[in-house]
Amino acid sequence: MSKQFTIAVIHGPNLNLLGLRETGIYGKKSLDEINVILQAHAAKSGGEIHFFQSNSEGEIIDYIHTLRSCSGLLINPGAYTHTSIAIRDAISGIAIPAIEVHLSNIHAREEFRKNSFIAPVCLGQISGFGHNSYILGLEALLMYLRERSIS
Ligand code: DQA
Repeated sequence: MSKQFTIAVIHGPNLNLLGLRETGIYGKKSLDEINVILQAHAAKSGGEIHFFQSNSEGEIIDYIHTLRSCSGLLINPGAYTHTSIAIRDAISGIAIPAIEVHLSNIHAREEFRKNSFIAPVCLGQISGFGHNSYILGLEALLMYLRERSIS
């Protein structure tokens, strides 16, 4: 039987508007639809997911602080990617493996989106594959955890 991992998925500001917001950039799937896809994917791969979305930096930080015993974190910090040293410090503070994901390719957009304060404290960043960025990120996290067999 495969090992059960507990993964937290954090969606940052404005991602509650997915499916309605700038669909040419972010796609037509709603956040709930993306979460259902992720949950199904995790269930097949021996993982359980806890989802969290907030538009508030402080709430995201408080939630990250509760994740010390989680196997790993998948985070789309939204615009906080480019501004939040506090979210970066929270992630490095809990010391669990994290992966940053973005629906759009942040490196192919405005200059201000090219910098991520979060990526240096993550295992890596996946950007530009629409909702599949989340699936690729989850898969990368599960591979990392399986290789190390930590839960
Ligand atoms: C985003 C990219 C960010 O620059 C932007 O502020 C978002 C969404 C993405 O998933 O492509 O809100 O994180």
